[in-house]
Amino acid sequence: MSQASMVPVLEITDLHVSVGEKEILRGVSLTVGEGEKVAIMGPNGSGKTTLSNVLLGKPGYRIDQGSIRFMGQDLSSLSTHERAQLGLSLVSQYPQEVEGVDLKDLVGAALSARGLDLDGVESRVANEARKIGFSESLLGRWVNVDLSGGEKKRLETLLLSLVPARLAVLDELDSGLDIDALRQVSQRIEDLSSSNSMAVVAITHYSRLLKTLTVSRVLVLAHGLFVTEGGPELAEELETTGYRDYTGKGTPTEDIFPF
Ligand SMILES: Nc1ncnc2c1ncn2[C@@H]1O[C@H](COP(=O)(O)OP(=O)(O)O)[C@@H](O)[C@H]1O
Ligand SMILES: [Mg+2]
Repeated sequence: MSQASMVPVLEITDLHVSVGEKEILRGVSLTVGEGEKVAIMGPNGSGKTTLSNVLLGKPGYRIDQGSIRFMGQDLSSLSTHERAQLGLSLVSQYPQEVEGVDLKDLVGAALSARGLDLDGVESRVANEARKIGFSESLLGRWVNVDLSGGEKKRLETLLLSLVPARLAVLDELDSGLDIDALRQVSQRIEDLSSSNSMAVVAITHYSRLLKTLTVSRVLVLAHGLFVTEGGPELAEELETTGYRDYTGKGTPTEDIFPF
C-alpha cells in the first residue's frame, strides 16, 4: 500500500482545547503515519503537555472544536484505557508512582487486557531490562516508587518495549537523563519503531535526543499553535536562536531553557 493511501495512525484536526476559561490549544492539526517519528518543540507553557494529556484523555481538558482520530477511530468517546488498548502509549514528563503494583503485575495486566500471551513474562521483563540498562535489582519494586528520575524514564521505556504500542508519545523523555541513559532509551525507542512500525511523537527541548531518535519532521508549538515545521536540522537551529522568531517576544534562550 502506498503511504498516501494508508490510514494515518494519528490525525488531529483543528483541535481547540481549554481548561476553565483559558484556551490552551488554539487550532492544532497534525497527521502522523504508521511508523513515522516526529518531534514537537516549543517554549515552556505553549501547550505541549496539554496536547499529550488530551491525546490520552486526561480529565479536566475541554475540547471546544476539532477532532482526534487514532487508528481510524474518533478518540473522544474512548476512555484512557481503551485508547491504551488501541495502542496509544504515553511516556509522561513526570512518570506516576503506582503504589502496591509491581512491574510484572502491570505488564501482566496490560498484556491480558490486550489478549496477549503471558508465557515467559518474567524472563521477557528481565531480558528487556538488560537491554535498557534497568537494574534487575529494581524490578521487584512498585512501579516508579523510590526510583530516581532517570530510572523512571528507563522503566517507562521498558514498559514500551514489553507492551506493544502503535504510537508512543514521549513528553520530555530526555529530562532527567544523563547522556548514556539518553542514548540507551532513545536507541531502544528507535529500534522499537523500526521493528514494530511504532510511530513516535517526541516532545523535547533538545536536539541531542534527535541524534539517536531519527525524526522526519520537527514542529514548533507556540501559544497553542504550530507556528513552523522543518526537518531535524530545525532542532539545532532552535538551540542557537531560541524561539524569538515565533513568540514575538524576543524571548532569550535562557528564559526558555531555565535548567
Ligand atoms: N490542568 C490544567 N489546569 C490549568 N492550567 C493548565 C492545565 N494544564 C495546562 N495548563 C496551562 O496551560 C498552559 C500550557 O501548559 P503545558 O501544556 O504544560 O505547556 P508545555 O508542556 O508546553 O510547557 C500553561 O499556561 C499551563 O499552566
Ligand atoms: Mg510540558
